[in-house]
Amino acid sequence: MTEPILSLRDIHTHIQQHHILQGVSLEVKPGRATVLLGRNGAGKSTTLRTIMGLSPATSGTITLAGQAIQNRRPFEIARMGIGFVPEDFAVIYSLTVEENFRLAMFKESEEARQRLAGIFKLFPDLEKFLHSKAGVLSGGQKQMMAIALALVLEHQIVLIDEPSKGLAPVVVEHLGESLNRIKETTTIVLVEQNFYLASKVGQDYFILDDGRVVHQGLMEDLMKDQELKQKYLGIG
Ligand SMILES: Nc1ncnc2c1ncn2[C@@H]1O[C@H](COP(=O)(O)OP(=O)(O)OP(=O)(O)O)[C@@H](O)[C@H]1O
Ligand SMILES: [Mg+2]
Repeated sequence: MTEPILSLRDIHTHIQQHHILQGVSLEVKPGRATVLLGRNGAGKSTTLRTIMGLSPATSGTITLAGQAIQNRRPFEIARMGIGFVPEDFAVIYSLTVEENFRLAMFKESEEARQRLAGIFKLFPDLEKFLHSKAGVLSGGQKQMMAIALALVLEHQIVLIDEPSKGLAPVVVEHLGESLNRIKETTTIVLVEQNFYLASKVGQDYFILDDGRVVHQGLMEDLMKDQELKQKYLGIG
């Protein structure tokens, strides 16, 4: 049994008077891609935001490589090695693509330059538009940019919230290939409603419903389970 790199134990999160996460427990294994699935409003984004300390847990424990992080501030959690690509991607439109990358780097080292070269292999369009304002990129290119920004620094885990949102099938296909290449070097936690992309990239899955984990297992088993897919994901 490999030790989980990230684990949530009985996490409760309140936002104002709302009790959103109601005892979420899940484990992410290193070197694998874990997908969080579930209907709209199930608590997927809140789970990622709670891990990052942006919607802090009100009780429960979160450990990253054995260290408790649930009481830490978002910037500390980020520096401990968790990258985050939010739903409304964190790209600054008024800066050029290159300036966005320079902002994401702590310092411009040889290592950072090498990582950037690797990122351009993954997303060649970004190099093409290096000196354009990020605001002029297409929806798909902005999504690639958002993911790329999380790869500029070396992370233990990258959390990615619904990267396929609003993208054409051919772009989703390309995104799946890129995520699979990222998976070779980085542990990924992916929130994804697009079941095609989730199954192409994901290896382990958790289904959330009403702020709780209702099912978990291997993606290859879920793909065959018509009943479960119908019940919680509305697909059969
Ligand atoms: N800032 C907030 N204030 C009040 N309620 C919130 C807030 N953020 C989230 N919620 C509520 O928490 C619940 C879970 O939201 P969350 O964004 O985690 O869902 P989700 O699973 O990511 O859904 P989607 O697939 O639509 O993105 C929803 O009912 C939502 O309305
Ligand atoms: Mg969401």
